[in-house]
Amino acid sequence: MTESKRSNSKIIDGKGFAESLRQRIAQQVARLKQQHALTPGLAVVLVGEDPASQVYVRNKGKQTEEAGMNSFEHRLSKETSQYDLLELVHRLNKDPAVHGILVQLPLPKQIDPQAVINAIDPEKDVDGFHIVNAGRLATGGLGMVPCTPLGCLMLLKDRLGDLSGKHAVVLGRSNIVGKPMGLLLLNENCTVTIAHSRTRDVAEECRRADILVAAVGRPEMVRGDWIGDGATVIDVGINRVPGANGKARLVGDVAFDEAAERAAGITPVPGGVGPMTIACLLQNTLTAAARQHGIELSQ
Ligand code: GUN
Repeated sequence: MTESKRSNSKIIDGKGFAESLRQRIAQQVARLKQQHALTPGLAVVLVGEDPASQVYVRNKGKQTEEAGMNSFEHRLSKETSQYDLLELVHRLNKDPAVHGILVQLPLPKQIDPQAVINAIDPEKDVDGFHIVNAGRLATGGLGMVPCTPLGCLMLLKDRLGDLSGKHAVVLGRSNIVGKPMGLLLLNENCTVTIAHSRTRDVAEECRRADILVAAVGRPEMVRGDWIGDGATVIDVGINRVPGANGKARLVGDVAFDEAAERAAGITPVPGGVGPMTIACLLQNTLTAAARQHGIELSQ
């Protein structure tokens, strides 16, 4: 995007960006159907009844269908054995109507999540969690990229353009967000620091950041005086805290009002990174379907 088209608002509108991304995906899906008789399909597997997971899975199914793709939901009881779950994954791997497979985490404790993730065909691993896709990201290969970091990167590139030479600090080192985020930013030629719970002076590390990505899951841990003037702040946290009226309130990992005083750009919670995650899941499903059929997608 050109400089003039870039937003001059401090707020980075992930919700709006995700909506337009989903529209573009729907257009590409329509073209795949028309020109190649191909409808991308996403299978989502939910084991057990975790309430937050049920909400996520419902939203994923709804948005998948709104984009014109097939959604296949598999709900299994919380007593499901690892053997039975692996059998379902093997079946989905072989199903030509299924281009993307997502097994919702967390899984019940009798199941080893890594064993299940690594049983998914890497070309259908739309979460990008398979060890082969982690390896491809680390070595610059063409793989599936985890949805949340991919969404963060899209927002950063839309806001800042070329990220080359910028100092990026990623707070958090999870396999799902922190580590892949660090690698994506490194691939964009940023100088990357990954800070975590054992980092000696985390506030000082954050102050040096041109780009700060907070993904620690601790409500409002990042204070205003941790933000360097003019920094761009991406808040991955979605934390439920008690609100004034007794109802739960959502806050990020960043104390938004304080940070917004110093930052040049900042994502809100809700309405920032959250909506980007499902939009990127749809993007990965579309990408997976096209790659499996040797079809080049237009940009
Ligand atoms: N549980 C919470 N977020 C995610 C996600 O992005 N992928 C999967 N598979 N499970 C999740």
